[in-house]
Amino acid sequence: MKIEPQAFDRVLSSMCTKPHPVAREAAERFLATNPGDPRTYPAVAALEEKAIALLGEIAGLEDPAGYVASGGTEANIQAVRIARERAGSRRPNVVVPESGHFSFQKAADLLGVELRVVPTDDRHRANLEAVRSCVDDDTALVVGVAGTTEYGRVDPIPELGEIAKSVDALLHVDAAWGGFVLPFTDDDWHFGHAPVDTMAIDPHKMGQAAVPAGGLLVRDSDLLDELAVDTPYLESTSQATLTGTRSGAGVASAVAAMEELWPTGYRSQYVRSQNNAEWLADALEKRGYEVVDPTLPLVAADVPESTFDALRAEGWRISRTATGETRVVCMPHVTREMLASFVTDLDRLEVRASVPIPSDD
Ligand SMILES: Cc1ncc(COP(=O)(O)O)c(C=O)c1O
Repeated sequence: MKIEPQAFDRVLSSMCTKPHPVAREAAERFLATNPGDPRTYPAVAALEEKAIALLGEIAGLEDPAGYVASGGTEANIQAVRIARERAGSRRPNVVVPESGHFSFQKAADLLGVELRVVPTDDRHRANLEAVRSCVDDDTALVVGVAGTTEYGRVDPIPELGEIAKSVDALLHVDAAWGGFVLPFTDDDWHFGHAPVDTMAIDPHKMGQAAVPAGGLLVRDSDLLDELAVDTPYLESTSQATLTGTRSGAGVASAVAAMEELWPTGYRSQYVRSQNNAEWLADALEKRGYEVVDPTLPLVAADVPESTFDALRAEGWRISRTATGETRVVCMPHVTREMLASFVTDLDRLEVRASVPIPSDD
């Protein structure tokens, strides 16, 4: 029996989305290519250069270097690896706000660096005082998140840059999710706004490319050299990526999506997604839920656990933050009709969930 993939019509928790039709077509065409061996697969290698040039344009970097990674996790791990290699310290540490993605825990485990997790402020952004008091001469990397996974918040990136530079550390920005919406906001988040050294920015999230298409950007190609190893049996002689063989599908689909959508299509999508998030936040607030203001297209609200469970049982794919809010990510496949149907179900199920279960006695 042929099993079909899930439909997207009730998916509200994912940071991936339906690929744009041109991205899907390009992914299929380049499925059997391996950018991990660029001399044997020169067509996809040329496309990867194009992908990095486009990502650089989006992220305010004039002469970008980097590569198309498997996702934000790989880009974050590689950023920590670059910083560890650069650091003079034998006991390097990485300072990351508590809103940082769990991939930094993986990076710390794999690379044997100390992870110093600092609290966020009441707006869910990195607490600068806490970062300042946490860095020291052994700090290899300060991390700022531009579009946090749970609340869509943007850390104060220029200030984090100043702190990083005060101890000679690198600054990494995790814009894995936010990178394709932030160009249309007033936020300071990219290479042109702050002394950013490395960045995660994923075409397979808001960029509408097919999975796997993450992005690692570095300010200077020397930083990428920190990752390079010799590759004796390949036609190509060195490799900076974490994976060896990797699918050219991600590379080709990232280029196709960016050529199609940057900047006009992404701007329209941002406006649609942001309007949807504000509409949902408003609808939830009117019903008495406490809502975290969606500064980017992501809504978190204190829906009771029983209602959350009932919604999941109805097939809604929703998830919760570490502190228990229900989280809805307004990705490109999330339409106003979907959200209206979600709110209708919420109203119906909330009433049912609040009716006390009769006791036996
Ligand atoms: C801010 C951020 N960074 C990194 C990641 C990890 O990305 P991936 O799952 O593509 O490895 C995510 C995933 O949602 C994310 O939201």
